Amino acid sequence: MELKIKGNKLLTGEIKISGAKNSALALIPIALLSDGVVTIDNVPEVNDIFVLKEILEYLGAKVSFDNNVMVIDNKKLVNKEIPENLSKKMRASYYFMPVLLSKFKKVEMFFPGGCAIGARPIDQTLKALRALGGVVDEKDNHYCIQTEGLVGGHVYLDMPSVGATVNTIIAAVKAKGLTILENAAKEPEIVNIATFLNAMGAKIKGAGTSEIRIQGVEKLKGCYTEVIPDRIEAGTYVIAGALVGENLKISNIIPEHIEALLLKMNEMGIKYNMDDDSIVISKPDYKLKPVNIKTLGYPGFATDLQQPVTPLLTMCTGISKLEETIYENRFNNVPFLNQMGSNIEIDGRTIKVKGPTKFKGQVVEATDLRAGASLLLAALSADGETTIKNVEHILRGYDKLVEKLSAVGADIELK
Ligand code: EPZ
Repeated sequence: MELKIKGNKLLTGEIKISGAKNSALALIPIALLSDGVVTIDNVPEVNDIFVLKEILEYLGAKVSFDNNVMVIDNKKLVNKEIPENLSKKMRASYYFMPVLLSKFKKVEMFFPGGCAIGARPIDQTLKALRALGGVVDEKDNHYCIQTEGLVGGHVYLDMPSVGATVNTIIAAVKAKGLTILENAAKEPEIVNIATFLNAMGAKIKGAGTSEIRIQGVEKLKGCYTEVIPDRIEAGTYVIAGALVGENLKISNIIPEHIEALLLKMNEMGIKYNMDDDSIVISKPDYKLKPVNIKTLGYPGFATDLQQPVTPLLTMCTGISKLEETIYENRFNNVPFLNQMGSNIEIDGRTIKVKGPTKFKGQVVEATDLRAGASLLLAALSADGETTIKNVEHILRGYDKLVEKLSAVGADIELK
């Protein structure tokens, strides 16, 4: 599929932010730990969610999903190997490793890891599962992990990995005894997950800090939970507002979750009006100052907003520098942005952006989710028409993308 965008149209009106993809992708597998019925509200309708629904149903769960509400009843759950054609579709499938290990003492699945932005190893997850009593056999990306029964342990992560933090919490909630997790990721999604598990009866303390303590419990009951707003979707549309907004209102956001982006926009000199759950922003008619950005784990500047913010850096007068410290290959958008008229040099894990430059419509290609988002933002501000190929990548992370942008005046068509 491809998107056709006629750029340089000012966007005005309101965009409502959906539930966080990266929360929902963990909450849904975690729901299988419950011995009751679980309701998850504000689930975004992006493709990966439907893949997860397929995996849950394959495992025997009864799942309904209407109006962004997913109800999961896993009374008839059975332990089966998750087929490769499903597990390799998305990285989030590895959350099933600790879920099935905790539930059934054994899990077998194929897990490829890796994608366009980097190798994305899962060594920290495997280290954590071993520390809690898992025995891991891996051959050609096929994993068989077993345990006599998970026991609490001490896990120190080499880096604050989001996935390894989630997987350790999952493995620990019904393990015997206390688990102490250090150097944990502090992303808001971790808090969303811990709140959900505690609502089921888990005993998790410290989520959102770098030390998390989990006291194992016997049972986890059914409950209701809600996915937090998607801070990366929010940041992406805030950047759209700074590029082509005319009093564009982005609502249903949690401002502190995009604070690093807002602070960098303040440094550029961009003005906007903020209240407790929305922001109104317009394209500046004044010069923007160049800035330096370094991606870090939360609350640092989010790596997922690195590619989306790059088109904004091209509007700044002078040289901006951006260093990507999380992934080894997350500049696939740059050649296409330069094809559209920007002046960006790649130097290892840093890019140098010389501005201001003006984007012109071109035929380009999305190589990964956030690279695609970056090209979409450039296209919205470009003179002329842009075609973005392989747009499936973008649709994975942005709920109702075409509807939301069309509703505020974008000339955008999905073909
Ligand atoms: C989550 O991925 C997100 N995905 C990513 O969002 C996000 O970029 C990332 O967190 C960082 O914020 C989901 O939540 C589904 P990590 P995850 O474990 O859990 C190293 C998007 O665009 N590492 O923090 O895979 C490795 O270099 C996606 O929505 C190890 O070396 O992130 C990895 O690249 C992209 N060993 C880096 O840390 C490990 O065992 C970040 O990994 C784990 C990680």
